[in-house]
Amino acid sequence: MQHWFSDAAPFQRDPLSFFLERGGNSDQPIERLRLGMTPVWLINDAELVRDVLKASEEKIDKGRLIHKLRAIVGHSSLTISGEEHARRRQALHATFARTGAMKFVPNMTAAIRGFSAELLGKESFDAHKATSMLMLRTICIVMFGRNVLTSGDEQALLRAVKMVEDDLADEMFRLFPRTPWNARATQTKRQEAQYIFDQIVSRIRERCTPDSAVGALEALGLDTQAMRDEIITMLLAGHHTTGSAAAWILHHLAERPDLATAIANEAAEITGDDGEIDTKRMARANLSLSFVKEVLRLYPSAHWFSRDAKCDMEIGGAQIKKGDALLVVPWLYHRSERYWDNPEEFNPDRSFSGKAYLPFGAGPRACLGMGVALLELQLLALEISASFVPVSMNKGPVGLPTSSVTLMPPEIRLSLRIREPAEMLVAAE
Ligand code: HEM
Repeated sequence: MQHWFSDAAPFQRDPLSFFLERGGNSDQPIERLRLGMTPVWLINDAELVRDVLKASEEKIDKGRLIHKLRAIVGHSSLTISGEEHARRRQALHATFARTGAMKFVPNMTAAIRGFSAELLGKESFDAHKATSMLMLRTICIVMFGRNVLTSGDEQALLRAVKMVEDDLADEMFRLFPRTPWNARATQTKRQEAQYIFDQIVSRIRERCTPDSAVGALEALGLDTQAMRDEIITMLLAGHHTTGSAAAWILHHLAERPDLATAIANEAAEITGDDGEIDTKRMARANLSLSFVKEVLRLYPSAHWFSRDAKCDMEIGGAQIKKGDALLVVPWLYHRSERYWDNPEEFNPDRSFSGKAYLPFGAGPRACLGMGVALLELQLLALEISASFVPVSMNKGPVGLPTSSVTLMPPEIRLSLRIREPAEMLVAAE
């Protein structure tokens, strides 16, 4: 029998399986979930999702889940709406768009090469731990115009991010209030994370270049608090998402040596005589970009997010009331046979132009960092394949991702070996 909370236990146990089962077995474009007193609607139909994401913010706005982030990131372009949101988005767009971020390619490739050199001597390494650090470095290059973090800063930031991540994940899947003891422990952790963020932000902020993302925000004249909130948002949104996708990139390069070799050849084609990637030739690097897009189809870091209805309305034949929550689940659309042939198969040859491809959302609140994220991940695939062969060191098949604030990869153990020039020639023949 159905009651107010009948979906709560399976959702909390395993949100990823829950979404696939409920969405996959439903013939409704949108259906009500029973997760508590507030109505929550799961949108099953990917076309309907696009309409929802493109609706004006007076009708449908960011959901209450994103507002829980305010405890950590404050009021930033992720959590605010209206004119100020549009103003900040516009200012950041020039740096975060692919064309704007191209000027950072030499610094980013240098960071990837340094990262590979660190890993080369290791018998094996955990892919996600390694890529989290790398992606923190590369996003800092775009944010500040150069790498401004000391290795101590990097470790401290990763620790603070982990604290925040655990806290937020707990908050997002919570259906009942915390006990006072729990609330106090959370508060202490939050304060510690905030302290770390504040210390580092106040030091590195001064070191940005005018053509960087932080430089663009400085030009808007934001006050100290707003700058701090934006920097923390970019650090969080900009490295955790790419870090988990990057781990899967390394995994699939190890699983598919044929594709890794083809990407190595692609890297050779776009590399100039000086040994550096020629950004003017990047538009020809189609395979590495499709490889990244396929990784983000199977493992969309932002695997679900939400919206709130701001007024009564009809969506997909359902009567939605003001205050109802709407769940958007790329994880579901990306793995649905309705939209993809053999959805579980890793196949970069597919077309990603369909309406069901939503790793970065859509509409006015689509990911601000999409251009830079695709570029960073593509450079990783190109640079690693050009010089190295990732080798799987797992004892058996790798596990499935798990649901947290972002989609978390399981342990993926790898090693790197140097690519022999002959391996490229063989595959190119
Ligand atoms: C693979 C990497 C990434 C994925 C999959 C991803 C995904 C997303 C998604 C789905 C949204 C929309 C959420 C919603 O509609 O509620 C979003 C928003 C956002 N992302 Fe990303 N993101 C990635 C990387 C980045 C990077 C590198 C940055 C740069 C700092 C960034 C900054 C943001 C910001 C600021 C927003 C809020 C935009 C707004 O509300 O106007 N993201 N991201």
